[in-house]
Amino acid sequence: MDNHCSYILMLRKTLKRRLPPMRYEHSLSVSFTCMALAMRYGTDLNQAEIAGLLHDCGKRYSDDIILKKCLKHGIPVTPQEEEALSTLHAKYGEWLAKNRYQIQDPEILSAIACHTTGKAGMSTLDKILFIADYIEPRRFKAENLPQMRALAFQDLDRTMYEILKSTLAYLKQKGGVIDPATVEAYQCFEQQMKEEEK
Ligand SMILES: [Fe+2]
Ligand SMILES: [Fe+2]
Repeated sequence: MDNHCSYILMLRKTLKRRLPPMRYEHSLSVSFTCMALAMRYGTDLNQAEIAGLLHDCGKRYSDDIILKKCLKHGIPVTPQEEEALSTLHAKYGEWLAKNRYQIQDPEILSAIACHTTGKAGMSTLDKILFIADYIEPRRFKAENLPQMRALAFQDLDRTMYEILKSTLAYLKQKGGVIDPATVEAYQCFEQQMKEEEK
């Protein structure tokens, strides 16, 4: 067994102990989906696998406790994050990945940190994780899932654009808090789509 595989087995064992069963199952599913997308787009499989497995490592606590832990560890919390606490596990997850799981790779850390909101200038790994989290096989709620699952394997940027567009529309409709990072991410992909259509 190579080093990466032994590491993955150890990581899965730890996460299985620390996460609620459905969260662990979701993490596995995201990890496999990340690898499928990495194969499709010719990017690093090991990075994709680790990012997928660890992306929700911060979700072992309730939102209130995550907020307390962020404040305790000096992780900056924006007013929007304080209002929409469910997004904060991404930043806390980045901190945990770095400080408790010894992840040094800045690309993996970035993907974990922006997996709930997106951000301007996303890398391929950032996009792969964001999309895998949305389309993984255990998901069932979003109406546009079949289209996004197909599109994800055709065009990563267009998938980002469509997911962000529907997320913003949903948040506006239910009066939810919109993180500025999500708006910035959407504007980047919208601009790109316009340029491609020229
Ligand atoms: Fe998450
Ligand atoms: Fe997730």
